[in-house]
Amino acid sequence: MEARPLIIDCDPGQDDAVALLLAFASPELEVLGVTAVAGNVPLELTAANARRVCELAGRGDMAVYAGCPRPILRPLETAAHVHGEDGLEGANLPAPAMALQSRHAVDYLVARLMASDGDVTLAALGPLTNVALAIVAAPAIVPRIREIVIMGGAIEGGNVTAHAEFNIHTDPHAAAVVFSAGARLTMIGLDVTHRAIATRERVAAIRAIGRAPAQTVAGMLEQHLDDPAGRHGGGGAALHDPCVIAYLLQPALFETQSMRVEIETEDPASLGRTIADRPGAANANVAIGIDAEGYFALLTERFARL
Ligand code: RIB
Ligand code: CA
Repeated sequence: MEARPLIIDCDPGQDDAVALLLAFASPELEVLGVTAVAGNVPLELTAANARRVCELAGRGDMAVYAGCPRPILRPLETAAHVHGEDGLEGANLPAPAMALQSRHAVDYLVARLMASDGDVTLAALGPLTNVALAIVAAPAIVPRIREIVIMGGAIEGGNVTAHAEFNIHTDPHAAAVVFSAGARLTMIGLDVTHRAIATRERVAAIRAIGRAPAQTVAGMLEQHLDDPAGRHGGGGAALHDPCVIAYLLQPALFETQSMRVEIETEDPASLGRTIADRPGAANANVAIGIDAEGYFALLTERFARL
């Protein structure tokens, strides 16, 4: 079966790093390029971390592009308190040797999608700033995108405020552009990712693989095993971003429902909320269920291949 062409837009970030490794370990996917955006940590670090992880996976040949250093309107508020000051706490990876592409990530997204015949999937693992600006710059890319699979939002709850998830809250205006663009959209939000907890047992199974990539993943996840219950649901890190890659690999691990989702961009109290089940035409396929055991079995099986 031909590999599915994929561009990964991300803000590494520990879980972004795990998602990149899962993608590189999976022959069903052909990663065409990686674009970095400011989010968990500033752009300089997300662009460097993306390259660190590519090299860890033996993919020093991968094209990595730096994109937007800040959200469209809001100031950048990072999540260094979760991922560490360098964004990959516990990974202990050397500075990247591979160069960053000189082209801006937004220009790359526009050029690569305009050159495609509609077969390219976009995995959006960070704030949607790069994706939104590509759509605004060149609306003609929208029908050329096979599907955008987003880690972000939540039908209920939030992890930055009571109502908003980090990727959407960081750049709600970008999210509003993407959710109203008319692209085929799958939203994997906290409703399922908070049920994908890297518990002590699950991390031990990854640690036991013994190879460098798995050790690095274990090193990052072990940072969260004693997290207070309020964060990540307690008892370990919620492995948010790899859910996007797992959905592409084994969609049967997830239950989804077609809904209309709108983004709160006005009310300061609920800024960045993904308001689901709005009246009107559906614009997203929203994940409402996950087979967490199957998800971690997939992760563990794939990391053993790296
Ligand atoms: O809310 C979780 C999301 O925000 C993940 O993508 C994490 O990496 C951060 O970007
Ligand atoms: Ca992310």
